[in-house]
Amino acid sequence: MSIEIRFAKASDAPALHDVIRAAFGARPAVDPPADALQDTVDDVRAAIESGAGVIVERDGIPVAGLLVEFDGPAATLRRVAVVPEAAGAGVGVQMVATTLLALADMDLRRVEVVARSEFPKNIQWWERAGFRRARAVANGWILERSLPVAVRVPDADAMRTLGRRLAGVLRAGDVIVASGPLGAGKTTLTQGIGEGLDVEGPVISPTFVLSRVHRSRRGGPSLVHVDAYRLGSPDELQDIDLQESLADAVTLVEWGRGVAEWLSDEPLEIDIQRSDDPADDERVVHLFGIGTRWDGVLESFREHA
Ligand SMILES: Nc1ncnc2c1ncn2[C@@H]1O[C@H](COP(=O)(O)OP(=O)(O)OP(=O)(O)O)[C@@H](O)[C@H]1O
Ligand SMILES: [Mg+2]
Repeated sequence: MSIEIRFAKASDAPALHDVIRAAFGARPAVDPPADALQDTVDDVRAAIESGAGVIVERDGIPVAGLLVEFDGPAATLRRVAVVPEAAGAGVGVQMVATTLLALADMDLRRVEVVARSEFPKNIQWWERAGFRRARAVANGWILERSLPVAVRVPDADAMRTLGRRLAGVLRAGDVIVASGPLGAGKTTLTQGIGEGLDVEGPVISPTFVLSRVHRSRRGGPSLVHVDAYRLGSPDELQDIDLQESLADAVTLVEWGRGVAEWLSDEPLEIDIQRSDDPADDERVVHLFGIGTRWDGVLESFREHA
């Protein structure tokens, strides 16, 4: 099964319109009815042209999408839609995560979404994605979150330096969910965090060991380094008995997206992307703090290379 998430072109308007109708049409009726159901193909095309659209295809078939409206450094997500056949498969989570990263790369700072109060589960879903209720509107809430901070990292030494700097803002109880492809630099970043926390080393790839505990040399938090690469489900993470050390340690889970978020209400998500050119060492690291724990904490990383 392949999932492709991309910006929509004007010619995608009919497909995106179908996805929006299918998704909003499947919800229980609300009063007043969702504006989404009044949209015409032309409305969707106009929205793509004046802002942006995102479309998700599963095996070539459109299954999810959304529209984006821009307003200075802020963006609003509208018509966030997953067709009923694709619901519950994590498609929406992936679509929103990818959209937020793309918006962060456009140097935007903040994103909002409107959720109807008739759908509390929907509101909770946005809260798990790091959104918070900003203000009440007629039929619901405006939820908002700040966008991830993008940091350019030219080489492996700079990645360790970034790790050391991050260690300076970390404390016991923090959970870091690190993602990015093979060889992206997750372990290299963790080495820097280990140096900054001054824990016993060496921090090495835990691929053949599920988790390693590195004790502090100075009475600070331990570093628990976990590799979820081989885990099939979130339940398996429970089996490795992390709960015990969570409160006293900084826990970093490589390949943690989708399996480790529940370890904390306020995880720090770190996504590392490498360029398509294997000769190019530069990485783009996105720091994505969820919850008030990270308010103001990550801003100082914005200009840092
Ligand atoms: N800018 C960079 N940041 C991090 N690592 C880099 C960079 N440029 C080159 N490298 C090299 O890329 C490799 C990254 O490997 P690392 O084990 O940290 O990746 P990983 O994301 O943990 O991979 P895996 O998914 O296999 O666990 C290292 O050999 C490192 O020296
Ligand atoms: Mg690794």
